[in-house]
Amino acid sequence: MVKAIIAPSILSADFANLGCECHRMFDCRSDWIHIDVMDGHFVPNITMGPPIISSLRKEIPKGNKDGSSPSFFDCHMMVSNPAQWVPEIAKAGGDQYTFHYEATENPLELVKLIKANGMKAACAIKPGTPVDVLFPLAEYLDMALIMTVEPGFGGQKFMANMMPKVEELRLKYPTLNIQVDGGLGRDTIPAAAKAGANVIVAGTSVFKAQDAAEMILFLRSQVDQ
Ligand code: DX5
Ligand code: ZN
Repeated sequence: MVKAIIAPSILSADFANLGCECHRMFDCRSDWIHIDVMDGHFVPNITMGPPIISSLRKEIPKGNKDGSSPSFFDCHMMVSNPAQWVPEIAKAGGDQYTFHYEATENPLELVKLIKANGMKAACAIKPGTPVDVLFPLAEYLDMALIMTVEPGFGGQKFMANMMPKVEELRLKYPTLNIQVDGGLGRDTIPAAAKAGANVIVAGTSVFKAQDAAEMILFLRSQVDQ
């Protein structure tokens, strides 16, 4: 059984207090921090990039390479040219680099480049992309991300019709980290957990919760049962 990993998306954080917000999440027992990098081209939004990641890394020093210590920066790269940013994200302190399958012609080369830069490599697919594009890649990946909203914005509605993709992937790869991202919260986590997702990104539901620690615990309890 793969373990639950809870990754709050700082897209929903208070940007004026980003360092404190990251500390708050780790204090609330989050496993990772999910960092949404958007270039205004692959998606119709601009968020943050290497300088912000680098500043956050000064606040939260690197931990164990395997992600077991709470300092893991999970970088979701919603950019048109993912190969371009690999060295900079590595230098800024990213632990994992998730590129979009739709943004690259040669995903295996990109995986090699990411690993050569000392990061874990993950591949994301948008809702319209079939899951089988991940099959030839899966054995080289540290994680696969099944998007449960169209990438670009926080606070969207969870697409339950993505769950068959998660189920199919889980059946083929029992030990792979499978991440879901978009619209995850109290009402939608049961379906994602049942389908076999173990890495849970949650922006709105965690950052806007009255009690973020309780929400993180709840999400974890739904996956680890
Ligand atoms: C959307 C981002 C998500 C987003 C999730 O493109 O990839 O990580 O922040 O936000 P919620 O949990 O609010 O849907
Ligand atoms: Zn994301």
